[in-house]
Amino acid sequence: MRNAARRGLKALARGGRAVVPSPNIWYHTDVYELENRAQDIDREIWRVLVEEAAWAGRDVLDLGCGDGFHLPEFAREAKTVIGVEPHEPLVRRARRRLDGVSNVRVLAGSAHRIPVPDASVDVVHARTAYFFGPGCEPGLRETDRILRPGGALVIVDLDATAEPYGQWMRADLPHYDPAAVENFFARNGFRCRRVATRWSFRTRTELVSVLKIEFSPEVAANAIEDVLRAGGDDGYTVPVGYRVHVREKPTGLVLPGHSSSSSVSISPRMP
Ligand SMILES: C[S@@+](CC[C@H](N)C(=O)[O-])C[C@H]1O[C@@H](n2cnc3c(N)ncnc32)[C@H](O)[C@@H]1O
Repeated sequence: MRNAARRGLKALARGGRAVVPSPNIWYHTDVYELENRAQDIDREIWRVLVEEAAWAGRDVLDLGCGDGFHLPEFAREAKTVIGVEPHEPLVRRARRRLDGVSNVRVLAGSAHRIPVPDASVDVVHARTAYFFGPGCEPGLRETDRILRPGGALVIVDLDATAEPYGQWMRADLPHYDPAAVENFFARNGFRCRRVATRWSFRTRTELVSVLKIEFSPEVAANAIEDVLRAGGDDGYTVPVGYRVHVREKPTGLVLPGHSSSSSVSISPRMP
C-alpha cells in the first residue's frame, strides 16, 4: 500500500478524515479493473455474502463502490441497488458502467454522510472501503441510521494474517495490527468469517501491473517473484484471504446496559 493510503489510514484512526485516499483505484483505475476481474474467481466471497445477508428482492447499498464493479452482481437479484462513492471521477465511471440498468443508482457521498433517508436499505456492503478499523465509528453510526431494523452491514476486507498476501501487506504496513482491527469489529458487535480466495490473472503482465499498484516497489518485486516461483500449472494465481464482518441492526428495543450493536434486543409485542 502506498504512502497516501497509509496517511489516510492513520488519519482515519484519529477520526479525522472523512475520505480515505485509495491510490490504487483513484490513479490506476484500469489496472484496478483487472484486479477486480482477477479477484475471487471461485466466488467464495459471494457465497459467504449470500449466507450472511441474502439480498434477493431487497434494497442494497454498496458504500465506497468505486467505479461500480460489484453493482451489477447485486442488481441481478436485488430490488434496488445504490452505489455511494466520494471520488467524483469514479462516480461518473460507475454511472457509465450501470447505464441502462433500471434498478441501480450511483450517488456521490461518503460513509460520514450517506445521502439516503433513515431506515431505507436492507443490506449495506462495503468492500475494501473505509471500514478499516478504529476511526470508522462515524460510518458505523451512519449505516445504523440508514439500515432498516433487521438489516445487515457487511464489511469485506483483506485478511493480513493469511499468507502469502498477508505477509506482503504487513511488510508495507509494519504498524498495522490485524488483531487490534479484528478486536475492534468484535467489540462493535460484528461476527467474522474468514474466506480463502484465489486471484487469477490471464497474463504475467496483468499480475505484475496489479501487484505494482498494491505494494511499494520493493514489496511488489518480492511478491511477483514469490508468485512466479510458486507458479506451476496454475498460471498466475495468488491465494488471498479475506475477512467478512457482519452485524445486524436490532429489530426491537435495546435493553438498558446493552449497546445497539449487541444481539440482545427485545421485540415490541403486538397487542
Ligand atoms: C479500494 S477501493 C474499493 C472500491 C470498491 N469497493 C471495489 O471493491 O471495487 C476503496 C473505495 O473507497 C472509497 N472511499 C474512500 N473514503 C470513503 C468514505 N469516507 N466513504 C465511502 N467510501 C470511501 C474510495 O474512494 C474508493 O473508491
